[in-house]
Amino acid sequence: MKVLVLGNGGREHAMVWKLRQSARISQLYCAPGNGGIADEAECLPVDLKSMDAIVELGERLLPDLTVVGPELPLTMGVVDEFVRRGWPVFGPTKAAAQLEASKGFAKEFMQRHRIPTAAYAICDSRDEINDALGHFSAPVVVKADGLAAGKGVVIAASKEEAAGAAADMLSGNMVGDAGIRVVLEEYLEGDELSFLVLSDGERIAPLVAAQDHKRVGDGDTGPNTGGMGAYSTPAIIDDQMRGWLVNHIAKPVVGGMKEEGAEYKGLLYCGLMMTARGPMVLEFNCRFGDPETQPILVRLESDLLEALEASIQGRVSDGDFKWSNDASVCVVMASGGYPGAFETGKKITGLDAAGAVDGVKVFHAGTTKRDGQFYTSGGRVLGVTARAADLRNAVERAYEACGKISFDGAYYRRDIAARAFKKG
Ligand code: AMP
Ligand code: GLY
Repeated sequence: MKVLVLGNGGREHAMVWKLRQSARISQLYCAPGNGGIADEAECLPVDLKSMDAIVELGERLLPDLTVVGPELPLTMGVVDEFVRRGWPVFGPTKAAAQLEASKGFAKEFMQRHRIPTAAYAICDSRDEINDALGHFSAPVVVKADGLAAGKGVVIAASKEEAAGAAADMLSGNMVGDAGIRVVLEEYLEGDELSFLVLSDGERIAPLVAAQDHKRVGDGDTGPNTGGMGAYSTPAIIDDQMRGWLVNHIAKPVVGGMKEEGAEYKGLLYCGLMMTARGPMVLEFNCRFGDPETQPILVRLESDLLEALEASIQGRVSDGDFKWSNDASVCVVMASGGYPGAFETGKKITGLDAAGAVDGVKVFHAGTTKRDGQFYTSGGRVLGVTARAADLRNAVERAYEACGKISFDGAYYRRDIAARAFKKG
């Protein structure tokens, strides 16, 4: 079988690594891929912002399955184009991907289907913002409606700051067109949880849950990023909570989308805040999370290919995934300056020594390879991922491996998963 993965991040490296374990795959491609992925799949150049380029690649390869990693091609309608041509493809259609592409759409959808989420207002102008702010109390969360790579959310300590951030978004200066509409949201307190489910449009199968670390700095300080690390353990949620999330969030979403004529097939990522009032949805993503996929897939013991095919073929069932009882953690090593400006082209050393630490797999997120040597090429550079019988050991292994890797300006959080220990 010939399989093509679209994308170039740590998530795609983890998917490629896992798919390679599938006996049915004889040819594995990744486009555009990255330096590390090139060691495990054939990487082909493609501009993921260009539908023509992606379709051309599909025509050339005619894969038996295409797996779309990132949100941009999904929200552009790559799945619709492939389905129209009869090419098997994993992911939601453009209409279904609206759940991620427009936060306003997602909020109104949740309201229509009584899915728990923070109180909100959707605003198109400064006047609307000023009116709406009268109904909120500080802190206020200000979100760009469109895609902003995790950088379109401001937690404003005061209403003045919220008005300023919203005005910056509306002006297009902050996140471009993504901010021409703004969502104001009630601030929620609690632990965050990434709850991912596989859907075939009707049935769902939950994956093991994970916790992301969105802020750049230790102790959850500084600006939001795409994610600085994540962990997953069997204990992160219990069966009762999993059942609640399935029945009150995941199933109503998939059922609601079907009812509205935008069947949701693919991976549905529910970003949750576990508040004192119960779990509430912060956001939906229409794809696997990055970096959550790294610690989740190292715990997966069954065949990823089979699960992806079950989604496409309409036969998802609870038994699609078999999980290890181990804990896992991914520490993201980033370029100094990320999520702001950063330099690339820095030589990376110590990767072999890091990969030799027991239970460790180093996934590449932003690297290139030249003459057998890896260099940095992005903000998030590596996802150093470790698995062990318990979380403490997994964390120790991951940080031991991080300590062996160096590149100019390398930065990583020192407290990934630390919150799990505080809870005892
Ligand atoms: P989002 O892209 O909507 O998930 O927002 C990115 C991050 O901002 C989340 O992972 C949270 O850390 C934070 N956030 C978003 N919405 C809220 C909220 N209503 N209350 C508190 N924090 C939030
Ligand atoms: N880690 C959050 C995301 O994938 O959007």
